Amino acid sequence: MIHLDLSKLSGFLPEDWLSSRTDALSQARDMLSTGNGPGGSFTGWVHLPRDYDRAEFDRIQQAAQRIRTDSQALVVIGIGGSYLGARAVVEALNSPNFNLTRTSGPAIYFAGNGLSTDALLEVIDLVKDKDFSVNVISKSGTTTEPAVAFRIFKALLEEKYGKEGARSRIYATTDAHKGALKGLADAEGYETFVVPDAVGGRYSVLTAVGLLPIAAAGVDIQALMAGAQTAMESLDVPGTENPAWQYAAARHALYTSGKRVEILAAYEPSMRFFTEWWKQLYGESEGKDGKGLFPASVEFTADLHSMGQFIQDGERIMFETVIRFENTRRTLEIPNDPDNVDGLNFLSGKPLSFVAEQALRGTLLAHVDGGVPNLIIGLEQRDTRSLGGLIYFFEYACGLSGYLLGVNPFDQPGVEAYKKNMFALLGKPGYEDQKAALEARLH
Ligand code: PA5
Repeated sequence: MIHLDLSKLSGFLPEDWLSSRTDALSQARDMLSTGNGPGGSFTGWVHLPRDYDRAEFDRIQQAAQRIRTDSQALVVIGIGGSYLGARAVVEALNSPNFNLTRTSGPAIYFAGNGLSTDALLEVIDLVKDKDFSVNVISKSGTTTEPAVAFRIFKALLEEKYGKEGARSRIYATTDAHKGALKGLADAEGYETFVVPDAVGGRYSVLTAVGLLPIAAAGVDIQALMAGAQTAMESLDVPGTENPAWQYAAARHALYTSGKRVEILAAYEPSMRFFTEWWKQLYGESEGKDGKGLFPASVEFTADLHSMGQFIQDGERIMFETVIRFENTRRTLEIPNDPDNVDGLNFLSGKPLSFVAEQALRGTLLAHVDGGVPNLIIGLEQRDTRSLGGLIYFFEYACGLSGYLLGVNPFDQPGVEAYKKNMFALLGKPGYEDQKAALEARLH
């Protein structure tokens, strides 16, 4: 279970930073559980770990099993909330080298999360001579990046397997009723999975959006949901002992005290995309109405040798949240060297994890001494249940935190601005006037 160490906030915040927020937290809790707050129609994720659609879940497991049997590669096409959660979980529970280290099932490649020609061609090169399947994911069904990528991979599959063969290798995850992808999936007869109406993109990792690719990677999605359900039940208990209440209140208190950046730090390279997922969750939920903490991330100890300078010594605008796993999966002992030319024999026989732990402890104190408050999120191990719990913890705390800040944590009006300009510049029908105005400004 998640444990929050708040001791390194001491001296940075007034004594009553938590108690003074309990009324507001209690209201936020009610809004989340009843759906009566701003954006309440998008709180379907709150009880999802208990109330998810069992029949769809079984279909996800069956489809994943089919992919694991008939495909050497799975191309997962999606962007933002339709991308980051799956990648976060696959890598967090395995490693960034998943495609090289897996012992069974398909390699997982992600596409449609940008518009790089070279990146897309690279994925095509990697899969075209293999047996592969595609999972195209888009809640709206109209997002340009995945739609363009899907058009290309659909053509590739049809060329390789024929229309009929391609059909059985395409899995579409989208809205239950509307959008271009839903129309296409129905017309072509693809197996489809649903992004529930009441679950927004960045809260959708525990729906088919995340679960199908995660299961295709061989992760036990039942354990993932069980971990999330345990967290859901424990975080629903009101009070100052609740780690989600503590985290939401600490963020709000630090923001009120003048901090503007939250850095999520992890000491495991496998957590890199988890921190990317977290950045979207908090950035899109809170960064609006001229408010919000800017979510940043670092991978330690690597980034101690780059961003460490700024964190220690630069503008004092940030605090850190550190994810700490108590145990490593395997152990590695530092060998003795009779010559001791590197002077490291004082570490001989010690596990590498001991060195990592002292790095974490030393960094914590150095950064606190440098004026950077630290929160530590402790977990026993990097396993499936814990990760399910951590996902739910961050989602739930994000909902509380957004309400404390006084924003709607479930909309993303700012994401539309670039899309409108891009459509106009691309010459999409209906955008003719904007195109002329934008072109004039760009000359
Ligand atoms: O959180 C969000 O709403 C966004 O990041 C979306 O997930 C992203 O824009 C992709 O949208 P869609 O799933 O509709 O293609």
